[in-house]
Amino acid sequence: MSILKVARMGHPVLRARTRVIDKHEIRTEVFQKLVDDMIETMEEYSGVGLAAPQVHEGKRLFVALLDPSGRGEGEPMVFVNPEITPLSDARVDGWEGCLSIPDIRGRVPRAPHVKISALNREGKRFELELRDFPARVVQHEADHLDGVLFFDRMRTFESLTFMEEFSRYKAQPDEEDDE
Ligand code: NI
Repeated sequence: MSILKVARMGHPVLRARTRVIDKHEIRTEVFQKLVDDMIETMEEYSGVGLAAPQVHEGKRLFVALLDPSGRGEGEPMVFVNPEITPLSDARVDGWEGCLSIPDIRGRVPRAPHVKISALNREGKRFELELRDFPARVVQHEADHLDGVLFFDRMRTFESLTFMEEFSRYKAQPDEEDDE
């Protein structure tokens, strides 16, 4: 496995559309290695999620550390060709960071309850209903597949905060991970 280079805001790959992944491609060694490398890269940089465009791959794939129940420690999960359906009209503000926008946090409105349908790394379809933080993580990562960054979703930029100031003035436990 290898740690991949993470594209930072300004790199065009983060704004480009991504392509749907063919089911047969999922079983290839190259694809499986990409998944392993993305998980290793996410863990190396203490992220809770990482999308393929962030490692210069224009494909509809992301990995995330999730506990679907929202209670325990996250496990690495793989989402290929994900589709998200909000299950609530509400939008709730919460802190987000991004490995492609280092050292910055901001408050972003997201649906607090979503359904996500995707293929796993074996090419099998699965569906999850997620709430709160896990729901936020998958919405952030799925946005990367459409060239959308969390700044684009903010209602105002008033909450934008550098990490040091975040830790000093804003942090709650469990709120220091990047997506
Ligand atoms: Ni991100």
